[in-house]
Amino acid sequence: MTYPNSLRPRRLRLTAPIRNMVRETTLSVNDFIYPLFVVSGTNVKEEIPSMPGCYHLSVDNAVELAREIYALGIPAIEIFGLPEYKTEDGASAWDMTSPVQRAMTAIKKVLPDLVIVGDVCLCQYTTHGHCGHLQGHYVDNDATVTLLTKIAVSQAACGADIIAPSDMMDGRVAAIRAALDHEGFINTSILSYAAKFASAFYGPFRDAADSAPQFGDRRQYQMDPANGREALKEIDLDIQEGADMIIIKPAMTYLDLVAKARQRIDVPIAVYNVSGEYAMVKAAAQNGWIDEKRIVLESLTSMKRAGADLIITYHALDAARWLKQ
Ligand code: PBG
Repeated sequence: MTYPNSLRPRRLRLTAPIRNMVRETTLSVNDFIYPLFVVSGTNVKEEIPSMPGCYHLSVDNAVELAREIYALGIPAIEIFGLPEYKTEDGASAWDMTSPVQRAMTAIKKVLPDLVIVGDVCLCQYTTHGHCGHLQGHYVDNDATVTLLTKIAVSQAACGADIIAPSDMMDGRVAAIRAALDHEGFINTSILSYAAKFASAFYGPFRDAADSAPQFGDRRQYQMDPANGREALKEIDLDIQEGADMIIIKPAMTYLDLVAKARQRIDVPIAVYNVSGEYAMVKAAAQNGWIDEKRIVLESLTSMKRAGADLIITYHALDAARWLKQ
């Protein structure tokens, strides 16, 4: 007896070749941006405890890792740094001899085709750990924006192809665009952290980057996780100000906004699959509770399915290897 219903979606799932033919979303090594943390000194490679598989690297070792990243076909890295000194205004963020600037220069020299993204923020560089210039307990928006433009220009001068401001001050994209253009960096693009939420998922990063605020939290400037419409407003504003691409961050708990943004805007969308998301997967995998490879590839695919073009992820090296198999 034949089953009366002729609607059988399983026909297209029956064999691997057919599944391959009808797959709607593909994950590719070209989607990845790998973040790395540079420190001063030489021959330093220290694993970050809450981010197994990620390291604090001195510039020489960062160059070696960059070679490996490039050889895997990953198109881009995003460089974070731990400076040699911290001050009230965060001056080591635009110091041309700081680890970030030195790493950019060294990597660009040996790997001119590896795209370098520079994270522009102050929290790693200020004694108070906030993302800007303080007035009492208030982060002064416009004074901060002026400092951010200096960081952006210093990174562009060291070879950064893309500037990624992660501070969440108002008006910084327009100011950075103007400063880059003024200094002749008309082809340096801006990937703005347009919708960055005040998230508990940044915990491991703050240990890694030694950037936890010394008082209070970042809710004065980072977004309320409850606000989706406001995220779309922030994205629209950054594009109006000249952002070439935008980031939604964190990734997995904000994929509804990726899908909405995809319907609304035409610039490339990146998601930042942040440290806490990474740490949870690693911890569960180390306990043998999950299949790490399948969990990672499924998670990254869901980001693409939601509408992301690019994924900033600490899983990039593993995922690139798995995709080659
Ligand atoms: C700096 C910055 C943060 C992250 C990227 N850039 C931390 C923060 O805002 O506290 C988080 C990245 C991650 O958790 O992986 N402003």
